[in-house]
Amino acid sequence: MQIKLTNGMLFIIIIFLITIWVISGCEHHKDEFEPSITDELTFADILNYVFVSCSACHLNGSNYGELDLSEYENIVNVPSFERPELFRIVPNDLDNSYIYMKVTGAEGIVGNRMPIGGQMTVEQLDLLQDWILAGALK
Ligand code: HEC
Repeated sequence: MQIKLTNGMLFIIIIFLITIWVISGCEHHKDEFEPSITDELTFADILNYVFVSCSACHLNGSNYGELDLSEYENIVNVPSFERPELFRIVPNDLDNSYIYMKVTGAEGIVGNRMPIGGQMTVEQLDLLQDWILAGALK
């Protein structure tokens, strides 16, 4: 027996293939914009995507300003060196998080705006802000 392709069947097959093509295209698109950051930001995300810009001076053995950014325990709810009455990060509170004050050049910081000799991208600042406002999770 021979199967005869009618115009109607061809039409359905073509629509089906186009649908698959569009769907797979969308999936790919989504991947490009969300590399590996999950909805729930953690300290590891901040270390990988934000503090990497501080590595010359606050990571890998360098701790200018007595600040080693590699450990969560050095940062969240820990007094800053330059203004010990302020914590380095206060969960859910940008205005009183000294690290956030230093990278935005806020009023009241001691010393330079960070990072010295560099600049953070808008995306990095957004990530840091989102992490703090979501409770600065470990
Ligand atoms: C080229 C070196 C350099 C880079 C890069 C750098 N810092 Fe600093 N940082 C310093 C020095 C030096 C000090 C102490 C003097 C000052 O505050 O100006 C300091 C101090 C600090 C302090 C104060 C620490 C405390 O507890 O009082 C914070 C917060 C800080 N840096 C955050 C950052 C962050 C966040 C980045 C990356 C976005 C960064 N720094 C990048 C050199 C650097």
